[in-house]
Amino acid sequence: MKNILTGDRPTGRLHIGHYVGSLKRRVELQNKAEYDHFFIEIADAQALTDNYDNPKKIRENVMEVALDYLACGIDPSKVTIFIQSEIPALCELTFYYMNLVSLARLERNPTVKEELKLRKFEGGSIPTGFLTYPISQAADITGFDATIIPVGEDQLPMIEQTREIVRSFNHIYGATLVEPKAILPKNESCQRLPGTDGLAKMSKSLGNCIYLADEPETIRQKVMGMYTDPNHLRIEDPGQVEGNTVFTYLDAFCKEEDFVNYLPEYKNLDELKEHYRRGGLGDVKLKKFLNEILQAKLKPIRERRKELEAHIEDVYAVLKEGTIAANQYCDMVLKRVKEAMGIDYFTNDALLKVQQEKGQ
Ligand code: TRP
Repeated sequence: MKNILTGDRPTGRLHIGHYVGSLKRRVELQNKAEYDHFFIEIADAQALTDNYDNPKKIRENVMEVALDYLACGIDPSKVTIFIQSEIPALCELTFYYMNLVSLARLERNPTVKEELKLRKFEGGSIPTGFLTYPISQAADITGFDATIIPVGEDQLPMIEQTREIVRSFNHIYGATLVEPKAILPKNESCQRLPGTDGLAKMSKSLGNCIYLADEPETIRQKVMGMYTDPNHLRIEDPGQVEGNTVFTYLDAFCKEEDFVNYLPEYKNLDELKEHYRRGGLGDVKLKKFLNEILQAKLKPIRERRKELEAHIEDVYAVLKEGTIAANQYCDMVLKRVKEAMGIDYFTNDALLKVQQEKGQ
């Protein structure tokens, strides 16, 4: 069995960090990898765990995320795209897995910890739904027998938590669930693309994202305003490449043919970096080059998105059909789980028989 599953929270439109971190890989996998099923989940219920007071935002972004997927080339004839909250079996699985995870283990989950730091809950008290979302994510993964999870590195603790739940479940109830494995982007700068301001993460609230749907002028302005090396004041000054956001983006996006097309004075990125380090290469030139690359990359995505927006009922139908297929699959897994746990009372008359035999 080889199933691929991944997902995103619909808290906003998707940005180029999502693209290099995961979307690009998904399109490659859909076309090249061997797999039995490929699922992509729009994790609205998970998004509600820290946006429970703003369901409107989540609701609105479900379609935005679906549009971004399809615009990037995810093909619904190969991939089942579905909405998490429409799959009731996931709640049941979560409920049973909760018995297998301690509170202390959840509090130790590095992703949860980091998010808690970023996100101050009212009165300092953590909603249980938020704290337990790693368990619900384990349901997302195991509910589809997923073995391959293409994600960014921030999701590794979630996959580890899932693996522990799988082992614990199989140990107690017998071999039932399969252990997933994360696959990360190959290129390190793709694993966590920083914001345009150089901060560690692209985040809507920080206003440091370049969105897949951004218009050309917006992209240009964001690129020209990017953080570089603060000590590189004059063109002649030697510049630093490490931690320089423009170079991190070039590492993530630039290919050799981009030099032929937009910057023929250099052969490749190493040559460009070398010149920057030496001094004599200005930030504006670098940014213009990056802008050309991003414009070329995002143009077809934006255009395809506009076409899809004009046929939004087709996108809606993709989600609806995907969700029906996902429900069928997850119901089958839930049935298997309940059988393993011996809580399948009405699938056969074993329970009745035992009582009848006792009475004889
Ligand atoms: N936690 C992921 C994120 O924040 C979204 C997600 C939900 C997910 N369920 C998943 C990712 C299952 C991979 C597998 O982006």
